[in-house]
Amino acid sequence: MDARARALSTLGALAALTIGSAGAGAARADADAELESRRDYHSFANTAQMQVRHVELSLDVDFEARRLSGTVDLDVERRNENATTLVLDTRDLVVREAWLVERDGRLESTPFELGATAGTLGEPLVVRVPSGAIGSRFRVRISYQTRPQASGLQWLGPAQTAGRSHPFLFSQSQAIHARSWIPLQDTPQLRVTYSARVRAPEGLRAVMSAENLPGPAKAGWFSFRMPQPVPSYLIALAVGRLEYRALGPRTGIYAEPPLIERAAREFADTEAMLEACERLFGPYRWERYDMLVLPPAFPYGGMENPRLTFLTPTIIAGDRSLVSLIAHELAHSWSGNLVTNATWRDFWLNEGLTVFLERRILEALYGEKRREMEDVLGLQSLRRDLAELAPRDQVLAVDLRGRDPDDAFSDVPYEKGRLFLGWLEARVGREPLERFLREYFDAFAFRSVTTEEFRAHLERELLAARPGAVRAAELDAWLHAPGLPDSAVLPRSEAFAAVDAARTGWLAGRIALAALPAREWSTFEWLHFLDNLPAVVPPERLGELDAAFGLTAAGNAEIVHSWLRVAIRNRYAAAWPRLEEFLLTIGRRKLIRPLYEDLMRTTDGARFAREVYARARPGYHPIAVATLDPIVRGAPARQR
Ligand code: BES
Ligand code: ZN
Repeated sequence: MDARARALSTLGALAALTIGSAGAGAARADADAELESRRDYHSFANTAQMQVRHVELSLDVDFEARRLSGTVDLDVERRNENATTLVLDTRDLVVREAWLVERDGRLESTPFELGATAGTLGEPLVVRVPSGAIGSRFRVRISYQTRPQASGLQWLGPAQTAGRSHPFLFSQSQAIHARSWIPLQDTPQLRVTYSARVRAPEGLRAVMSAENLPGPAKAGWFSFRMPQPVPSYLIALAVGRLEYRALGPRTGIYAEPPLIERAAREFADTEAMLEACERLFGPYRWERYDMLVLPPAFPYGGMENPRLTFLTPTIIAGDRSLVSLIAHELAHSWSGNLVTNATWRDFWLNEGLTVFLERRILEALYGEKRREMEDVLGLQSLRRDLAELAPRDQVLAVDLRGRDPDDAFSDVPYEKGRLFLGWLEARVGREPLERFLREYFDAFAFRSVTTEEFRAHLERELLAARPGAVRAAELDAWLHAPGLPDSAVLPRSEAFAAVDAARTGWLAGRIALAALPAREWSTFEWLHFLDNLPAVVPPERLGELDAAFGLTAAGNAEIVHSWLRVAIRNRYAAAWPRLEEFLLTIGRRKLIRPLYEDLMRTTDGARFAREVYARARPGYHPIAVATLDPIVRGAPARQR
């Protein structure tokens, strides 16, 4: 055995020791053990021994090979003086070399080992490092490249973009996909500052969730600096043919040239939203708030990457009716990015608080009627989810041990989380709850919080001075019991009552189509009308509606989505070409997943779904494919 092999075999033994309890089999065994609330069951990182503080990337973007390649430097702080391994998360990475970077910049090769794969958790990367005093630091450099199937990247050909002339790349790191494009400690418990150099092909621009320094400096190299510490899931990169437009002093938008005008018009209220949120919840800590419009394959509506929210183009409706999504991603600048969920079990702290803040922003800008309608639509969507979810997935603090966090995604953390805060508001009053939240964001700024820590803080800072306002058993039920507590304060909307009356009248033949007040309906009233049609409506009657209001041809993706669900249920064949086009062009999970599910309920529908899916699948994001494969192909999702 030569020296290097010997070093590696020792390392292997060490690695087994270090990561033994986090392996795939162990994760299952863990599910029966008592849950430790501070422990991240979705990371291999040995954060008790070593903590990465700063990340420095140098990456080359190769569209032909669908590959990022380069190096990452990690500045690591020792938390244990005897530890001699740094365990990182990776998934599907090719790791070429590891070095210790000496103070004078000299590189010293160091042994490393990539562990066995553990499904969606990926492969632990164990790097040998020297021991040293607690608090002391060292720097590691890793040379690596990504694989074409990296779960956190989507590589798009020109045909999948608005401009149709250049390719496009974007990352999606939340929840646990950062590890598929950077070897790092992929856990929301820790934060890092970062800087990056990215080389993009000629004619393309690279942007990141950071300060986008003017570039390219030379030969396609773009530079970035993120001085505020962020959890790994907020590191983001996109490369495409992009233009920029300022919207306000601190806000602006990047989009492909054919979309930039429409996008700038649609999102003109962003600066006002930012100001509204600051008035309510304290200063904006990230300097700039820019947004990036991605191609329609983006699997989410939006992603709150700091300083640069990523957006689906499907919210560009032409009438600003879908901008609640901007309010949502912006609100994450407080709930989520400033104060972060400690583990994916605590995801409701990110999303529930954010939905609450989002609705406050909407009310401030557009008034109470609008806020009420969005609240009610949220509740309806939650009820539909609750009707289908297993009890264990209906709780706010959800046990995700041994599971992919993407699989437990539902309206529960969002809308049940929002209802929890609405219930607290009803018990303590609007102003006290707002003050509590403002102080909470200050108290935990740039830190992460577990459900238990949030509860303790709530009890100490808000509830202790109000004995009798809330019982401990009620808090238990909100956080840990399935369904909705009876004491929930349910939102109501007068405007929707009028829509209900119109719908009932039309269905009963008492109100003619021409007499429906639908011409004045907003997007929300239309969604309420469509989402609450009875299970069966004869196709001829759908044809009447369609002829009068052009629903199949509508430009608003949310309205089309709701309409297509009605059409599928009632075999309204005139909508099939639109349905096919929708599924082939849009990759946003929330808009297409229910359509596939609806289709799969009948034999004809399933045939149509399988045929369209076969053609659409190559254009979908790996995250969407992981969700849709089991639905359409009836087999468990491929692990990688
Ligand atoms: N952070 C989420 C998106 C996300 C969640 C990505 C979990 C990966 C894992 C984002 O803020 C979000 O909630 N987006 C919603 C829109 C919102 C208005 C409810 C979406 O994408 O639909
Ligand atoms: Zn969100």
